[in-house]
Amino acid sequence: MTRAALYDTTGGPEVLYLAEVADAAPGDGKVSVRVHAAGLNPFDAKMRSGFIPSEAPFPRRIGGDFAGTVDAAGPGAVYFDGTPVAVGDEVLGRANGAVAERVTAAASDLARRPATLPVEVAGGLHVAGLTAVSVLATLPVGAGDTVLVGGAAGAVGFVAAQLAVHAGARVIGTASARNHELLRSVGVEPVVYGDDLAARLQAFGTVTAVFDCHGRDALDAGVALGVAPDRMVAIAAYGALEEIGAHNVERAARTAANLEKLAGRIAAGEIVYPVAETYPLDEVVAAFTALESSHAPGKVVVTP
Ligand SMILES: NC(=O)c1ccc[n+]([C@@H]2O[C@H](COP(=O)([O-])OP(=O)(O)OC[C@H]3O[C@@H](n4cnc5c(N)ncnc54)[C@H](OP(=O)(O)O)[C@@H]3O)[C@@H](O)[C@H]2O)c1
Repeated sequence: MTRAALYDTTGGPEVLYLAEVADAAPGDGKVSVRVHAAGLNPFDAKMRSGFIPSEAPFPRRIGGDFAGTVDAAGPGAVYFDGTPVAVGDEVLGRANGAVAERVTAAASDLARRPATLPVEVAGGLHVAGLTAVSVLATLPVGAGDTVLVGGAAGAVGFVAAQLAVHAGARVIGTASARNHELLRSVGVEPVVYGDDLAARLQAFGTVTAVFDCHGRDALDAGVALGVAPDRMVAIAAYGALEEIGAHNVERAARTAANLEKLAGRIAAGEIVYPVAETYPLDEVVAAFTALESSHAPGKVVVTP
């Protein structure tokens, strides 16, 4: 049996509770992972609250991102590059219901955790990290570009902004004033989001690309500044994409190979990926409450 976070009805963080669930031996191509860190994402909260509708039966498990140790491998369980998975391997990835002591995952979706990457960092990387990689795969930028990143202190935006800096672009990022020093520390020029963003951006010269990693504010600013729709991409611009003609983030780059590469870049110190807070599994309600409140930049991580 495995202790897992569950909910029987949609609602706030308080609907979550812990219970024992049965865990079966992993099937073909699957592995069982002892979870040491499970990063929380806004997506998890949107599913739990009912903001994203689901027909899945209750009780539902919660979570997706995880890092941990393989404790059983099914027949034919191999990594994306064909290497067999071994019991004891340290891995990271995504699987439904990861806020639990143990989770079953497809071996081909896993990345191997670099020894120097803390497990709490690895445990919150898959969703936000691969979304950021996908933003740049959807709209590549480089030297000569001035990129506006909306929500640049968020988990996705912070990685996307750094990837753009490393690609040679000039990067302007929107964030609360409390996060401006953090943005400067990775080579991003900060600007406060909110009313009159487009007017504030005039001081930065011509914007050539927009990554909206929060909602649609940055897209609207891009439109006001005359950025071409096909030079704008968004990850959470509900309803605005067709209206504006910007790209939705594509999914092709969400691969285990890219996850392992990104994990290596973070382990090497090339990309900064902070953890804001960690909570034991018993405090899963507090962890989600923190995620859904204004918190320090970085991931909220449960450590079962
Ligand atoms: N399409 C996809 O595949 C995909 C994948 C991952 C995430 N998402 C979505 O993308 C969004 C961001 O995810 P995340 O994991 O990066 O969230 P996160 O780590 O919780 O960050 C959210 C950030 O939003 C910023 N913010 C708040 N109000 C803002 C505004 N009006 N304008 C600009 N920024 C604002 C905050 O910045 P300050 O702290 O500086 O105030 C905060 O850092 C969520 O809606 C999530 O569901 C979509």
